[in-house]
Amino acid sequence: MNKKKYFITIEGGEGSGKTTQAALIKEYLELKGYKTLLTREPGGTVSAEAIRNILLDPNSKLVPLSELFLYEAARAQHIEEVIMPALKSGKVVVCDRFTDATAAYQGHGRGLNLQFINKFNSEASLGLIPILTIYLDIEPSKGLHKAKGLHKEYCGKNGDRLERESIQFHNKVRKGYLNQAEKYPKRIKVVKTQSNLEKTQELIRKIIDTVL
Ligand code: TMP
Repeated sequence: MNKKKYFITIEGGEGSGKTTQAALIKEYLELKGYKTLLTREPGGTVSAEAIRNILLDPNSKLVPLSELFLYEAARAQHIEEVIMPALKSGKVVVCDRFTDATAAYQGHGRGLNLQFINKFNSEASLGLIPILTIYLDIEPSKGLHKAKGLHKEYCGKNGDRLERESIQFHNKVRKGYLNQAEKYPKRIKVVKTQSNLEKTQELIRKIIDTVL
């Protein structure tokens, strides 16, 4: 039996359209005949979704370390409860954000030590590394504007707790992602968001074809 774990992650700045693209990736993989699971971080289980609510609530006051530990707590639960069982059952798992987000947001954005973050990422994810990570690159000023528009129904016009961070913070996050992509060029593919989502999806599908 093929024991390879088909774990694909999608990352991107706020408003990059990654959630829509993740759903289209799932659709494409199913067309190709794969059984799939689409999930997200933080989230994917009852307790991890509860942690997500704390993390994204604009009223939560969190110092960088508690923010990091909450992301890792949600991940530990998600990995054991959802991701590993789905991979073991032979599904291709597509996850909307994963450990690269922690390196970019808590490492580069908040300034926490990257080696320390890598250690926690690896423990919480039981050492699981994606076979492919798509990073959707968008200029933060453009993306944030879109993201805040999308989320205004449930967290007001200024967006969720992370979206409310300064443009300088989001520029650091973008640098962080690009830095991760430079460090792991085989795994992380940078896709610039195109003028429409179909064009972006076309680029993503070409990359997927090289691994699956
Ligand atoms: P989103 O993926 O729906 O945009 O919301 C998740 C938010 O959490 C987003 O602002 C990125 C942030 N995040 C981190 O800061 N660290 C992490 O490890 C993960 C998974 C997400």
